[in-house]
Amino acid sequence: MATHKLLLLPGDGIGIEVMPEVIKVIDWFQARGVAGFETETGLVGGSAYDAHGQAISESDMALATESDAVIFGAVGGPKWDAVPYDVRPEAGLLRLRKDLALFANLRPAICYPALADASSLKREIVENLDIMIVRELTGGVYFGEPKEIIDLGNGQKRGIDTQVYDTYEIERIGRVAFELARKRGNKVTSSEKRNVMKSGVLWNEVITALHKREYADVTLEHQLADALGMQLVRWPKQFDVIVTDNLFGDMLSDIAAMLTGSLGMLPSASLGEMNPKTGKRKAMYEPVHGSAPDIAGQGIANPIAMIGSFGMALRYSFGLGDAADRLDKAIADVLASGLRTADIKGNATSTCSTGQMGDAIVAALDKASA
Ligand code: IPM
Ligand code: MG
Repeated sequence: MATHKLLLLPGDGIGIEVMPEVIKVIDWFQARGVAGFETETGLVGGSAYDAHGQAISESDMALATESDAVIFGAVGGPKWDAVPYDVRPEAGLLRLRKDLALFANLRPAICYPALADASSLKREIVENLDIMIVRELTGGVYFGEPKEIIDLGNGQKRGIDTQVYDTYEIERIGRVAFELARKRGNKVTSSEKRNVMKSGVLWNEVITALHKREYADVTLEHQLADALGMQLVRWPKQFDVIVTDNLFGDMLSDIAAMLTGSLGMLPSASLGEMNPKTGKRKAMYEPVHGSAPDIAGQGIANPIAMIGSFGMALRYSFGLGDAADRLDKAIADVLASGLRTADIKGNATSTCSTGQMGDAIVAALDKASA
């Protein structure tokens, strides 16, 4: 039985509340002999700042580098609003993405039929939706230099962020999108703002050339990012795989989340380049929802995005697609049974706690394998 090294980073807010639920699932797969997991736990975000004055310590960064997968909760909260910019909670997350070179962020948005009424859109628009947003994660305006506020000396300041993409960055994320599309609906929609941005012009050129050269069997469409936002709420089922840059991907994936009923439903995988020698790639798995300070500490957060993120680890890091399918089915079964956390309440008359949802998913795994 292969053993995989996991680094658990619960972080802040509801990250701390959903992590115990994914541990139940990890333990379940381990006990069933599906795989061995060696877990370590570290600090990130505000909790790391409180402990060491940094958004992530060097020793936890070293553990992350050595791990086969980082399982990440969420960071941030009003408690740390006033901390210096470079040690703010989000800096820990961004450092993990950058230093582990996790350039490919996969954000699937799936609407389970049982949840179609929890979405703010009509059932027929979202029911059975299955799209994959592929967000570039280590470039663009998030990391471009210069990034600063300068004093102009006349009572004015200037804030600068730099949107920058090189050919290789666009090509490698494009490849991830085309490869995924071949295993799904065979369609890629590439999105940028080439009508106002040079980086968008290059993005469009590089994706078009890559398609022509290596992926002509896949259908390729281009949509401007603003139009794509509109199309996502108008007719989301037209999409299969969407590939876009770091900032547009951040925004569009939050929009896509609401199509599924709740931000509490969206898992994600952040992947690095495959190492041809080891056949392994660096990876981090995190729910798309943040630390949700408004509901933190109440035990009512939805753990499905966190548990689904571990499902993605089974699939994309450990080659355990069957186990991932079993986990997805257990989640669907629990939703079909009517159990609901508050965020996906819809027309339900009662809601369950974070822990009850985690227990129900483990029970559904048990039941399906009895
Ligand atoms: C996300 C989050 C992060 C981002 C924040 C917490 C820095 O919104 O993962 O979507 O902007 O990438
Ligand atoms: Mg976001």
